[in-house]
Amino acid sequence: MEYVPLNNGIEMPKLGFGVYQIPQEETKDAVLNAIDVGYRSIDTAQSYFNEKEVGQAIAECNVAREELFITTKVWIENYGYDKCKASVLESLEKLGLDYIDLVLLHQPFADYYGAYRALEDLYEEGLIKAIGVSNFYPDRLTDMCLFGRKVIPAINQVETNPFNAQYEAQENMKKHGVQIAAWAPFGEGMQGMFTNETLVNIGKKYDKTAAQVILRWLMQRDVVVLCKSTHKERMAENFDVFDFTLSDEDMDEIKTLDKSSSMFFDHADPEMVEWFDEMVEVRKNQQRADKEQKKW
Ligand SMILES: NC(=O)c1ccc[n+]([C@@H]2O[C@H](COP(=O)([O-])OP(=O)(O)OC[C@H]3O[C@@H](n4cnc5c(N)ncnc54)[C@H](OP(=O)(O)O)[C@@H]3O)[C@@H](O)[C@H]2O)c1
Repeated sequence: MEYVPLNNGIEMPKLGFGVYQIPQEETKDAVLNAIDVGYRSIDTAQSYFNEKEVGQAIAECNVAREELFITTKVWIENYGYDKCKASVLESLEKLGLDYIDLVLLHQPFADYYGAYRALEDLYEEGLIKAIGVSNFYPDRLTDMCLFGRKVIPAINQVETNPFNAQYEAQENMKKHGVQIAAWAPFGEGMQGMFTNETLVNIGKKYDKTAAQVILRWLMQRDVVVLCKSTHKERMAENFDVFDFTLSDEDMDEIKTLDKSSSMFFDHADPEMVEWFDEMVEVRKNQQRADKEQKKW
């Protein structure tokens, strides 16, 4: 495993396993398989609804706690100082941990300043070893770094893959001492990512797949990577990326695939902001309905 030092000296594995869209009933086994393959960094979130199952895997995996690097993310409905603090304590309980390695603010909407102050306090109390953000575009990140934060975010986790390579955003993060981390390194397989001719042909030179080329390319750019698979053989394929180095020529060729726009959605699009707002309302109603049901 390769590691990167974060801006507070904490070492983070360069390659991690993400559990987004893994159903609760499959999460424990998926995480146990990933740990068995060699992953030590696990990326979950309050909004994935599988922190408890990640915690069960951590409890059963027979790997020392200090060897694992656990990340979770605070969802928008838990923003604001008090709600954020309470929600992280709940995440700790669900994960069955007495500290979390990294906690991120999942989205740059609503009262994320209040939420960030709660993370700063939990960090100072030692319940979180590093704090950061996710989906903060360069303007939001710069604002967060400049305007009176006590703790500069250690990580900004953003969509990063060959079709949305984030070169400029990474430069901005570097300027502020923030480490970039990649979500959807494969773009969830969309737009023919795994069969892309350029990636496949580069892979042939090293006897590697397109997926392995992507992960190596990201790590060589000093990007922390989170990738997901529910198949153990793919987890192993994606972990088998520490025995080759892409040439400068190959790195440059992959650069030509960059379209500099999201494969998913633009966080700066007002319609998307409205969608996030609607999601908060939908989930509030769901939680109310769940509580009502429990009364019966
Ligand atoms: N901060 C955020 O807003 C945010 C957003 C999205 C994701 N994330 C994090 O980033 C992690 C990774 O992103 P992601 O899950 O969206 O997408 P991803 O890792 O780019 O792609 C996952 C998809 O690729 C397939 N796959 C994986 N390895 C493969 C291989 N070697 N060959 C063929 N197919 C392969 C998986 O299928 P199978 O599972 O069927 O194998 C799955 O459908 C997430 O799990 C989550 O932790 C964060």
